[in-house]
Amino acid sequence: MLRKLAEDIVPAELIKYVPKGFEVIGDIAIVNLPRELEDYRFKLAEALLSHLKPRIRLVVRRTSPARDPNRVHSYEILAGNGELETIHREGGCVFKVDISKVFFTSRLQYERFRITSMVKPGEVIVNMFAGVGPFSIVIAKRVPNVKVYSIDINPDAYRLMIENVKLNHVEDKVIPLLGDASQVIESHNLKYIANRVLMPSPEHAINYLAKAVETLKAEGYIHYYDVAHPKTDIKKYLENRVSRIFDELGVKWSITSSRIIRSVAPLRVYACADILIVK
Ligand SMILES: C[S@@+](CC[C@H](N)C(=O)[O-])C[C@H]1O[C@@H](n2cnc3c(N)ncnc32)[C@H](O)[C@@H]1O
Repeated sequence: MLRKLAEDIVPAELIKYVPKGFEVIGDIAIVNLPRELEDYRFKLAEALLSHLKPRIRLVVRRTSPARDPNRVHSYEILAGNGELETIHREGGCVFKVDISKVFFTSRLQYERFRITSMVKPGEVIVNMFAGVGPFSIVIAKRVPNVKVYSIDINPDAYRLMIENVKLNHVEDKVIPLLGDASQVIESHNLKYIANRVLMPSPEHAINYLAKAVETLKAEGYIHYYDVAHPKTDIKKYLENRVSRIFDELGVKWSITSSRIIRSVAPLRVYACADILIVK
């Protein structure tokens, strides 16, 4: 659709640079325009906005790669006006998000659904990198009697997570916790309590894997995320990444399934392994 709109704005030889899609978070459209389209960005964004109004209020582009440790991007507003805070709806849940202060992507909707479909009633879950709470809240909304300890180090994500827990009426199931995942697990005595640990931060998960094992009961699952090259054998790559840590801990483990989640840059993908651990 963006390409169609671009036909009246961009010279024919540049049409190939117009992205085929864009991300929508709440009423904000995020377009990633390459350098070649720099001079046309405002006109393109205006055309997109008038096409998508009133559902979309703002068209923005990312101006920086996500900074560590909170994975927050900077944005340039290309069309429309107002705040970078919005309400995103997904699968019967609502998430209040400020994209200039926290990490959030609508592109993990399927992954949230996939993880949720594995959770059994009554499970205790630790989400080590919870952000504004999307994984925790989708699980809590759909699965009876779960308890999800949801940790994030970013105070803005924590504040929004508390709001989102209330907005989705899951106060009795999701417990927002602020701080570094390792330290929170220590200080809140979350060892040996979980049936399942979520580690949805591909850049950090490897450094926290031993702590995730400590958090599990005698047997349980770790949903491990990592960054990989798209052309590798993903299962073998992930096995190599985690094997030394598990072997040092002396636990039995097997990857029950592995997959590429999404492409994040040329030659860079996010991958996930579901790992069964027996202590
Ligand atoms: C890729 S984001 C994922 C957020 C969320 N799971 C989602 O899907 O929207 C990773 C999150 O980990 C948080 N984070 C980074 N380092 C952390 C740490 N040491 N302990 C806890 N959270 C951390 C960041 O603030 C960020 O919100």
